[in-house]
Amino acid sequence: MLVVDFGAQYAQLIARRVREARVYSEIVPHTMPVGEMLERGPAAIILSGGPSSVYAPGAPDLGPELFEAGVPAFGICYGFQAMARALGGTVERTGSAEFGGTDLDVVSGDSTLFHGLPVRQSVWMSHGDAVTQAPAGFEVVARTTGTPVAAFEDPERRLAGVQFHPEVLHSAHGQAVLEHFLHEIAGIAPTWTIGNVITDQVEAIRAQVGDARAVCGLSGGVDSSVAAALVQRAIGDRLTCVLVDHGLLREGEVEQVEQDFVAATGVDLVVVDAADRFLAALAGVSDPETKRKVIGREFIRVFEEAAARVVADSAEQGEPVEFLVQGTLYPDVVESGGGSGTATIKSHHNVGGLPDDLEFGLVEPLRTLFKDEVRRVGLELGVPEEIVWRQPFPGPGLGIRIVGEVTADRLEILRRADAIAREELTAAGLDREVWQCPVVLLADVRSVGVQGDGRTYGHPVVLRPVSSEDAMTADWTRLPYDVLATISTRITNEVREVNRVVLDVTSKPPGTIEWE
Ligand code: XMP
Repeated sequence: MLVVDFGAQYAQLIARRVREARVYSEIVPHTMPVGEMLERGPAAIILSGGPSSVYAPGAPDLGPELFEAGVPAFGICYGFQAMARALGGTVERTGSAEFGGTDLDVVSGDSTLFHGLPVRQSVWMSHGDAVTQAPAGFEVVARTTGTPVAAFEDPERRLAGVQFHPEVLHSAHGQAVLEHFLHEIAGIAPTWTIGNVITDQVEAIRAQVGDARAVCGLSGGVDSSVAAALVQRAIGDRLTCVLVDHGLLREGEVEQVEQDFVAATGVDLVVVDAADRFLAALAGVSDPETKRKVIGREFIRVFEEAAARVVADSAEQGEPVEFLVQGTLYPDVVESGGGSGTATIKSHHNVGGLPDDLEFGLVEPLRTLFKDEVRRVGLELGVPEEIVWRQPFPGPGLGIRIVGEVTADRLEILRRADAIAREELTAAGLDREVWQCPVVLLADVRSVGVQGDGRTYGHPVVLRPVSSEDAMTADWTRLPYDVLATISTRITNEVREVNRVVLDVTSKPPGTIEWE
């Protein structure tokens, strides 16, 4: 089914809630012509909320055609008002805006939307205008003190709408209302499952790749790992994965991919040990953005060289590599407004044997999935839990967690301190509560300490545990004191070069999550 995005931040949430109801959903912009929406043959259409008043100049408008096509439709907030207006109802600025938690009264005994739900329930409102008269043919099934028409439905035409936001958790029975629309009013069976996603994707990948080969860059993170596991399921050893070990990964991460991931999925893996090359390129660099540029540049070169070797070997065997696998997720697709299907890897003349511009077709088996769905696909495919649940880790790795120049010794110190912090967070069962917990080495700072009988002059490390939804904003996580104490004691006992552990208690903004 389609979610028509009227520009509110809620469209992705609606699409996810629909999938939780086991109905596949996709988001389309409200600027898409109605004819194009209908051509896709949707089982139903949901109109999302939006920032505008239906009377504001330039407000997205809807004609009645969409509702006359016989496709079930559900309006939410702005979408509810747009629907009311298009079908001849009245929308007015009542002067009593509602924002936040509001009591809703169900006023119809035989409402399908609210069937079996409490007659008074708390819902989340966010609107200035209100529907004051429902269009002909609709029954008004709920109201609030400020909104006489808070929900309406016409089961015969399979149309319904609500003024509140059923997709947010603050609407106590929102998911049930949404499911009543999907399953009862629109009559869509809840058949979309992760198992189906895997079967469909495997078929699609086979059809796309045919007899050719594909190559995939693995980072050790969840997206590239699950994408690789899916493609491996589809084309077996015609997929080669390349893991560039830039020496900036955390303790045990390369081994985790080399051993556990390969054992679980059977992918053909090439690990390129390029640690020395990255260290040489990073020598003398302490500016964060320069570090990122150097690491990014070297990464592409090393990956290209490795891919060139894979391409050359396969060409010798008469099986050309024509595809590149990428772990692009649905939110990236929505936010970038679509996206094309080819990637050009630019080859540098001084490195390796790729043609100047080698065009690969892109295989993006996660393009329709949200992160939580990717994790479920991964678990179903047997990808190890440590990878499926791995917290976000930046591409430049520990390179941007050493404030100062990156050297082999400093990396070793940080790796040991980081491993201890991760071990203790896991032991305390806090992995899922913490979004991520960078450990940062202040390599150019020294402070006086006393360890054993002697005076020391060592480095501080910073613990940066944060809680976040999407990394755009974050708060520092209030870790239990005893967990902090254990981490601090262990790091200062076990990592001789560190004599101080400090806690970063800054939210984002103003601080970023990483220190560099
Ligand atoms: P900041 O530090 O900007 O980080 O609050 C937000 C999120 O992005 C990650 N991050 C990066 N990821 N390359 C990446 O792939 C980078 O250069 C980079 N810098 C920050 C960070 O770990 C956090 O999840």
